[in-house]
Amino acid sequence: MSRISWKAIEPFGAAIDLDLSARLAPEQLSELRSIYRDRGLLVFEGQSLSYPAQLEIGAWFGRVIAEKSPSIVSPDPKVGSLGHKELAFHSDLACAAEPLEAISLHALDVDDGQSETWFVETMAVLDRLPAPLRRRLNGLSALHLWPTVANSSARKRGSGDVPDDWPGATHPVLFTHPQTGGDILFLNAGQTERIVGLAPDESEDLIETVFGYLYDPRFRYAHPWKAGDFVLWDNMRFQHGRPAIRAGVRRNLQRVAMGSRAYVDEMPPDFRATYAAIL
Ligand SMILES: [Fe+2]
Repeated sequence: MSRISWKAIEPFGAAIDLDLSARLAPEQLSELRSIYRDRGLLVFEGQSLSYPAQLEIGAWFGRVIAEKSPSIVSPDPKVGSLGHKELAFHSDLACAAEPLEAISLHALDVDDGQSETWFVETMAVLDRLPAPLRRRLNGLSALHLWPTVANSSARKRGSGDVPDDWPGATHPVLFTHPQTGGDILFLNAGQTERIVGLAPDESEDLIETVFGYLYDPRFRYAHPWKAGDFVLWDNMRFQHGRPAIRAGVRRNLQRVAMGSRAYVDEMPPDFRATYAAIL
């Protein structure tokens, strides 16, 4: 059986040359899983996948969260959700008890090369942190909030403009990835509010210092969307974000999530209306 043809994307990820609609041999599936474990982010070009096919592919890599109807990310409110504004780097559901394990997006209808998704890695960054900084993060926890505004990069973190009972979750800043066993850094620009137990200025200084390493543009991957692209990534090992989408640009991406709990399951019931109004 032929080996899977792929090449590394820098600074992380793999571009795989494979028709995902064809039946894979068990050896190929096993090789694909191994590439995913190693590289964490997979890009396949030129695919044409129905929603059921995308669900099936997701199940090769984790526990798929089946939703009643396909979830579409689109700047066109008649088509899907999340609008056109910039989205700060985040991991989906970092603001809840059980963040998603992985996410896949399939470009159904896009203007080629006119929009991007950005990624940074939360594992490799730990090797770039000076040892004293990494030691300082050890044992600390951070509070992550559900989005308080559509564009969280426009909000000042820890500014006290959020009610005390705003929903969120606390996670260790450093912890072991539940699937891969590697250490990851769990602070992000979109949801992290503060380091628990530190004075506001100290928390903010520490977060900004860490972000200088995490969001260093030299260690980002910017994926330019083309029709037919299929991208699947580990939601704990990577954070994703995007610049604003220009008016009139088509960008309809079919989304399948993997994990144990969907957004709708994790969201406090009395918060749903607020959340829908924000996004
Ligand atoms: Fe997201």
